[in-house]
Amino acid sequence: MEPKLVRVPTEADIQKAFNTAPKGISEATHKAHLGLWQGYANKTNEIRKALAELDTDPAKANQIYSQTRALKVNYGFAYGGYINHNVYFDIIGGDGGPATGDVATLINEAYGSFEKWAADLKMTGISGRGWAYLGYDHEEQRVFNYIGDGQDTYPAWNNTLILALDVYEHAYFLDFQTARAKYIDAFFNCIDWDAVNGRLLKATGK
Ligand SMILES: [Fe+2]
Repeated sequence: MEPKLVRVPTEADIQKAFNTAPKGISEATHKAHLGLWQGYANKTNEIRKALAELDTDPAKANQIYSQTRALKVNYGFAYGGYINHNVYFDIIGGDGGPATGDVATLINEAYGSFEKWAADLKMTGISGRGWAYLGYDHEEQRVFNYIGDGQDTYPAWNNTLILALDVYEHAYFLDFQTARAKYIDAFFNCIDWDAVNGRLLKATGK
């Protein structure tokens, strides 16, 4: 059976992100970043093709090393990286400022105020080795700022990612060198809250 493949992003997918340039995150950063995003898409597709052709004999599976293990462990990283960047590039390029709509209500319910939420996300982003995520928890119907050390850590299963903050160095080194906190401040000025609300709506179906 032919595997379903993901769409590989193109320059058109980073056009909106170019709006961040006056706020400090340059077009050059996004153009270089696109190559990495494409890499996650291509590797996702490569692994899906390899899995489709894999010999499914259980005797060949092994927890120390096996083709299944190698492909499945790296699949989480590849597809995770693809999804994380889909969300990141969808929710930047906006006007920033305080949250709006239903997301604002959920943020206030979970954190008390937008300012407290923003402080928590900034702290989370500085503490993460790769990502900070705002997840919508379907079980508790609330939002939570998760930390990510890789493309495949650490949100729980019952969440939908509605906002992603990339804190890998490639997202800011060109513009801010090692000053990650300044990059996060710029990110807050570039959030597209309509896009975040769109993702929440899709997640809740309300
Ligand atoms: Fe990235």
